Amino acid sequence: MGSPSLLFLFLAVLAFVTVDCSYEGDVLYAWKIKLEDPNNVLKSWDSSLANPCTWSHVTCNSNNNVTRVDLGNAGLSGPLIPDLGNLTFLQYFEVFENKINGSIPSEIGKLLKLVSLDLKYNHLSGFIPESLGNLTSLRFMRLNHNNLTGTVPKEIFQLIGSGNLWTLDLSDNDLNGTVRATNPIGFAITTVIQDPKA
Ligand SMILES: *[C@@H]1O[C@H](CO)[C@@H](O)[C@H](O)[C@H]1NC(C)=O
Ligand SMILES: *[C@@H]1O[C@H](CO)[C@@H](O)[C@H](O)[C@H]1NC(C)=O
Ligand SMILES: *[C@@H]1O[C@H](CO)[C@@H](O)[C@H](O)[C@H]1NC(C)=O
Ligand SMILES: *[C@@H]1O[C@H](CO)[C@@H](O)[C@H](O)[C@H]1NC(C)=O
Ligand SMILES: *[C@@H]1O[C@H](CO)[C@@H](O)[C@H](O)[C@H]1NC(C)=O
Ligand SMILES: *[C@@H]1O[C@H](CO)[C@@H](O)[C@H](O)[C@H]1NC(C)=O
Repeated sequence: MGSPSLLFLFLAVLAFVTVDCSYEGDVLYAWKIKLEDPNNVLKSWDSSLANPCTWSHVTCNSNNNVTRVDLGNAGLSGPLIPDLGNLTFLQYFEVFENKINGSIPSEIGKLLKLVSLDLKYNHLSGFIPESLGNLTSLRFMRLNHNNLTGTVPKEIFQLIGSGNLWTLDLSDNDLNGTVRATNPIGFAITTVIQDPKA
């Protein structure tokens, strides 16, 4: 039989481990409860688990940090939440072809490891945050077919030269202004930006 103090130590360690590992689970769970999920694709997103790495549509690295969220064509509606910017290790955020609405939180610009931001074919509105210009790892940015407005921040275009941005699709929104499609070698531009009423 273990002594009471040993049991206490065990419980204290367990509590520490649980709290530490569920941080990113809390972030995703905070998002889940804002979403409507008629197809129940988030059924396995159980906040009582030690980490979100066994949840469907979530991938972790070997340290149990979330690297991918794959929720394309999942029937989801509702907003993106600023807390998503806390998923420090996220590389792929694939949430295309849903009914996600509201604006893109500027906190998405904190996801410095992001390689792909795919939000095409949703109902997003508002401006494209200039903070996305900080995503120098970003290779693919697809925001096409939403209701985004305003002018495209120059910081985004600067990623083409200074970062890794390879595919940028902003077509089929209500964005203001036109952009000359430059096409340096190897840069697969699919950007088509038009005056809303042109
Ligand atoms: C995300 O980070 C912010 C700022 O550090 C914090 O206020 C917020 O509570 C975090 N969100 C979650 C769900 O932990
Ligand atoms: C996972 O990320 C959180 C911060 O978001 C960090 O506190 C934790 O230590 C990371 N886990 C590992 C195993 O690196
Ligand atoms: C998003 O859609 C929900 C209904 O699905 C609506 O209640 C909400 O007002 C919408 N939000 C925005 C910012 O359009
Ligand atoms: C954009 O907004 C218009 C009018 O509010 C709406 O009819 C249309 O379905 C929206 N498109 C998208 C992709 O959200
Ligand atoms: C980009 O990150 C820096 C810190 O690294 C921060 O000071 C700046 O505000 C960020 N830019 C935007 C547009 O958010
Ligand atoms: C669109 O661009 C024109 C010319 O640059 C500017 O006058 C106007 O304020 C812009 N509108 C919006 C909604 O950004």
